[in-house]
Amino acid sequence: MRQTEWIAIASAGNDFKNFAGFTEREQDGLHRAGEILREGGLVAFPTETVYGLGGDALNPDSSRRIYAAKGRPSDNPLIVHIADRGDLSCIASGIPEEAEKLAEAFWPGPLTMILHKSDAVPPETTGGLDTVAVRMPSHPVALAVIREGGGFVAAPSANTSGKPSPTLASHVAEDMGGRIDMIIDGGALGIGLESTIVDLTVSPPRILRPGYITREMLEQVLGHVEVDVTILQSQAECGQAPKAPGMKYRHYAPAGELTVVCGEPETVVEYINCRADEDQRAGHRVGVIGTEEMLGRYRADLIKSVGSRADKKAIAAGLYAILREFDREGATKIYSEAFSGDGLGQAIMNRLLKAAGHRVIDLRALQEGGENDSNRK
Ligand code: TXA
Ligand code: MG
Repeated sequence: MRQTEWIAIASAGNDFKNFAGFTEREQDGLHRAGEILREGGLVAFPTETVYGLGGDALNPDSSRRIYAAKGRPSDNPLIVHIADRGDLSCIASGIPEEAEKLAEAFWPGPLTMILHKSDAVPPETTGGLDTVAVRMPSHPVALAVIREGGGFVAAPSANTSGKPSPTLASHVAEDMGGRIDMIIDGGALGIGLESTIVDLTVSPPRILRPGYITREMLEQVLGHVEVDVTILQSQAECGQAPKAPGMKYRHYAPAGELTVVCGEPETVVEYINCRADEDQRAGHRVGVIGTEEMLGRYRADLIKSVGSRADKKAIAAGLYAILREFDREGATKIYSEAFSGDGLGQAIMNRLLKAAGHRVIDLRALQEGGENDSNRK
């Protein structure tokens, strides 16, 4: 166990355009964070997506410490965060024109690009790959931490490997308290799902992880962009392993057994209520993740609204906190409504499916083709 320093930096909020600057006390804290990073220590900090667990990306010992603190398999590479676009050429080589175009359009922001790495990046940071994931976040605290820390900060999500990513500093403390040197509390984060990852080492560019920057937005800049089939299908369904090594692990997962139910809203409610009754009789504590519109219709022990179906941004921002609440409240079985696979809905559905280990009940398929429960595990 080590002492984890805790500092709060509230002045940035989530409205970065109107950010007027840090207080003196906050600046001291950021300076201290930079010292820790430059000495090889670990600092958790807010970004616009989820909290990151930062270490010096160019220091192999820091990367090893990140893997150890998260309990993460060391073949799962880290994203290198930069604070100035000009720094890209220090860590990537043979940078294609597409990267410049995407940086112009979406950086700073929730977009990660996969590029060929330069010799400056140690293999410990990239899980042994010769490519590197790079992102320039927009959160003022993240940018300040990166600059204070020397310019190149490796930062996976600041959760224990396999758990939902943290969207509150208290989530970080739950998982990382006593394991890292500092936690910077920036409040509840705005986006709530990890950055979109696009691989620019292949042609056409390919989305490896969907996020707030959607395929449509990328295509406006680049023309045709492919979406990796593993985003919405399990390895068993499509016969392919995900190209982002991290996406092959069960992830974002609550402790209870999560099942995603697809179909018409009415039939989904009916099905979930029926399963919940059965589970309760078997002694389970049953949770439901529902949209505002259907919430009053469920019967279960813990019924949580993920927001209105019309507001995908709010659903994305709240999803992980809800998954963690079920853990705290001891849900052993959880059922969730499904979301459409386009735009931001694709990112939400991708995370839900991973959290559920692809345990999906498709009521439409059941109705059309009789009992087809092959995905039920
Ligand atoms: O929003 C985010 O991206 C957050 C914040 C903290 O910036 N970070 C984040 O990092 O989500 P992490 O480590 O939890 O997820 C990084 C993902 C993993 O699935 C990893 O396998 C993939 O990026 N990745 C990293 N480097 C890669 C590479 N060279 N090729 C393919 N996938 C890569
Ligand atoms: Mg992660």
